[in-house]
Amino acid sequence: MFEFENMRYKDILFIKQLTIHQGEFTCIVGESGGGKTTLLRLLNKMISPTEGNIYYHKQRLEQCPSVAHRMDVSLLSQQPVMFEGTIKDNLLYAVRLFQKDDVSDEELSDLLTQLKVKKKLSDDASLCSGGEKQRIALGRILLKKSSVLLLDEPSSALDEKTEDLLLQIVSQYAKEHEVSVILVTHSSEVASKYGQRIIRIESGRVIR
Ligand SMILES: Nc1ncnc2c1ncn2[C@@H]1O[C@H](COP(=O)(O)OP(=O)(O)O)[C@@H](O)[C@H]1O
Ligand SMILES: [Mg+2]
Repeated sequence: MFEFENMRYKDILFIKQLTIHQGEFTCIVGESGGGKTTLLRLLNKMISPTEGNIYYHKQRLEQCPSVAHRMDVSLLSQQPVMFEGTIKDNLLYAVRLFQKDDVSDEELSDLLTQLKVKKKLSDDASLCSGGEKQRIALGRILLKKSSVLLLDEPSSALDEKTEDLLLQIVSQYAKEHEVSVILVTHSSEVASKYGQRIIRIESGRVIR
């Protein structure tokens, strides 16, 4: 699905050859500062390679329209981003931004249940706990119906139990909707529990 070819990003990441497969749960592990977040940002087209190429379904990423690409490949960042307003506003933020069809309240309530957020759609999002905020941010990207989910160390904002809950939801969703997941984690326990394939990155290089 993603292929790297002699890719360099500044003096941060150097990947000669790497394939990330469609329909798999891929985990990226490695020490802090190794370049894991940078890799996700490249996949999401937030940044572009300094040298070499990244292909997405055989097409050079450089040639994929950025907005459409970010609709199809969604990034859940390390710290959940919350906007002012209700939980409903927060769930619908991306869908509205990308002018996808509006979603019914019933569908949104079902999603909240699925995300195990025991709150009302009309509740103020800022009053949610860290774990709830992270799951609402996840709900926001699930509504985009992307084919690839990029998750950047969701654990950093959560305790272990809440992280596991989030990953269970993601892994269930991914199986049901045939979505590919690329998860950055520093926990080798998490990687071996969820990862069908594990990529280790050290000092900007892929170590198998
Ligand atoms: N925008 C940037 N400009 C320059 N250096 C950066 C930028 N973002 C991250 N870095 C550096 O790149 C390296 C890799 O960072 P990062 O990808 O965030 O690592 P990780 O997610 O594995 O902890 C670090 O040394 C970091 O300081
Ligand atoms: Mg990081």
